[in-house]
Amino acid sequence: MSHEEPIHASGLSGLVIRKMTEDDLEQVVAIDQVSFSLPWPARSFKFELTDNETSRSWVAVLDGQIAAMIVSWLLVDELHVATIATHPDFRGKGIGRRLLTHALLDAKAEGATRSILEVRASNEAALKMYRSFGYVEEGRRKDYYKDNNEDAILMSLDELHQLSGE
Ligand SMILES: CC(C)(COP(=O)(O)OP(=O)(O)OC[C@H]1O[C@@H](n2cnc3c(N)ncnc32)[C@H](O)[C@@H]1OP(=O)(O)O)[C@@H](O)C(=O)NCCC(=O)NCCS
Repeated sequence: MSHEEPIHASGLSGLVIRKMTEDDLEQVVAIDQVSFSLPWPARSFKFELTDNETSRSWVAVLDGQIAAMIVSWLLVDELHVATIATHPDFRGKGIGRRLLTHALLDAKAEGATRSILEVRASNEAALKMYRSFGYVEEGRRKDYYKDNNEDAILMSLDELHQLSGE
């Protein structure tokens, strides 16, 4: 991993992005549960930290509180964004953008050239964010989400080399 020290994000005074640790899990799980209709079991986050070598998991911390989290998997040259969420109290402030940028740049430093993810077809905020990074729709997975049989949009970002700065 390239970034061993916390990184202070400009523009969001005091925001620190650092690797997720087991001590963060309670807050991470809480963010996941208020953010998704199909949240992950707590053990899945723990697995990411303890047993999944491909996992690249980060938190954005503001005033000692975890404001946002991301779990991603680095698979050779591709970063798969598995989940990302900002606590509802902290949305719309640019934190999700900073966190995704950080994850992508760190993966790029490790050799990633592209990124993929799945997003609910109705998730306008996320779709807008991903499009602004250059992700484009690559396909659909029909009835992917089992709570409401919603389609997943599969998106890919092939221009990772063009991403710079945080
Ligand atoms: C998607 C999410 C992570 C964005 O996090 P955030 O910290 O609020 O995002 P930011 O403030 O950094 O905004 C980044 C971009 O997202 C888009 N965006 C964020 N909130 C939006 C909203 N309410 N409506 C439309 N676009 C929105 C915009 O493109 C924004 O960029 P801009 O401000 O330059 O226009 C957040 O809305 C969230 O946690 N949602 C619930 C969980 C989720 O759906 N995760 C994605 C799963 S695929």
